[in-house]
Amino acid sequence: MSKQTLNNPSEIGAEISEKLCADTREGVRNAYLVLPSGQITKFPLSVGAEGEQAVDIGELRKETGVITLDPGFRNTGACQSAITFVDGEKGVLRYRGYPIEQLAKDSGFIETAMLLIWGELPNKKERAEFREMLTNNEMLHEGLKPHFDAFPPNGKPMALLSVVLASMRGYEPKLTEIKSDKNFKPLVAKIMSQVRTIAANIHNKTKGSPWQYPNPDFGYCQNFLHMLHSIPNKPYHPSETEIKALETFFILHADHEQNCSTSTVRIVGSAKSDLFASISAGVNALNGKLHGGANAAVIRQLEGILMSKKGFDEIIAKAKTNPDFRLMGFGHAVYKNYDPRAKILKSVAEKLLEELKISDPVFDLAKKLEQVALDDEYFISRNLYPNVDFYSGIILKALKIPTNMFPVIFAIGRMPGWIAHWREQYLDESTKIARPRQIYTGHTKREYVSAKDR
Ligand code: ACO
Repeated sequence: MSKQTLNNPSEIGAEISEKLCADTREGVRNAYLVLPSGQITKFPLSVGAEGEQAVDIGELRKETGVITLDPGFRNTGACQSAITFVDGEKGVLRYRGYPIEQLAKDSGFIETAMLLIWGELPNKKERAEFREMLTNNEMLHEGLKPHFDAFPPNGKPMALLSVVLASMRGYEPKLTEIKSDKNFKPLVAKIMSQVRTIAANIHNKTKGSPWQYPNPDFGYCQNFLHMLHSIPNKPYHPSETEIKALETFFILHADHEQNCSTSTVRIVGSAKSDLFASISAGVNALNGKLHGGANAAVIRQLEGILMSKKGFDEIIAKAKTNPDFRLMGFGHAVYKNYDPRAKILKSVAEKLLEELKISDPVFDLAKKLEQVALDDEYFISRNLYPNVDFYSGIILKALKIPTNMFPVIFAIGRMPGWIAHWREQYLDESTKIARPRQIYTGHTKREYVSAKDR
């Protein structure tokens, strides 16, 4: 980093162009910031594996006294990460270099989870070992059950999920530190396996059904559907298409780089909080209707249109004119193109409904609404396309999952991503505790007024 101060604008221009020419000759890339004081400061450019560039402003305040202001961190790279690549302009999503389309077609959720967390696709032996660990870890500690009993039956499922995940650390004191994969792998197996048992029994609790135990003979998704829908006198046997639909849903939700909940997990983890505390915080971030709550909101909005029998012109007009109203399942903070996950989910929904012989007016309406929006100037000019949530709710509905459980299902899917990011950050020695700054806009110093004088 270098800095110098010049007063004359033409001198500043000449100086910067000289510096840029020198950088080109030396084959280095730097960015230069000129402040109103005439101070010129050099910052290195960091370049990612896919050519994306970032100005490294780590020393900005120290060198210049100013900070960056970036509400929502939309232009801020909070870390370097080797897990997931998203190109929002082109609609590209890859986990550890593998295109999401290939993983959705040929991989499984657990294999994808292992890829995200440990960086490579597992071989047969590694896969079998991890599968056994998942099976051995699927039973919840009995001490966790009273949390379910104490929770109101009509309570929010995400609240209970967050509480139970956070409480797990009380039962696993040895697993909260990762010295090596020797204790990290059992921790991952425990969380991945038990989140499914927890989620299914949150559903059973809210519908007043008895507790269901996992069946060690079933695969991950089959086991979840079994615990979700079996009752003691009537076991549930999902079809292959149902299992594959859920598997694809989980794979497509498994990671999405620095989204709101994953950033939350990283921020909590940056304070050296353990994995249980961090993922529990991730659940709370995911709970928001602009994030994990959106797929249920899509279904509610579509059902509302069907019930009103007025067609969707009114909704489209409202989305265009009322800044507080959104067409749910449309638009994305990063994708300014068709979300690749939405494309896959649309065809999964098509296949699932066909196989289950379900004629869902909500799906028919969604497809029509999509077409109208894609042809509308308002949506075109703002690059608003269907996002992952637009069709995912239709799949969950067809799997007989009620809307209050949608974000919980999303959380199971996102678990590998949260774990992978927490681990990556934990092992990165350059990690600092997250501590954004602010521009203060409140009162300047004033004298305290005693209570009797107010
Ligand atoms: N319906 C109508 N208008 C929209 C929508 C929408 N769904 N999304 C964005 N816009 C408009 C905004 O009003 C804004 O218009 P303006 O330029 O005239 O002011 C413009 O498009 C840009 O909007 P931003 O708010 O800047 O978009 P941002 O990237 O911040 O928001 C978000 C992304 C939150 C996802 C937004 O598109 C939205 O609210 N969508 C609906 C909720 C949703 O589906 N969320 C799920 C996201 S995916 C996930 O979290 C897994």
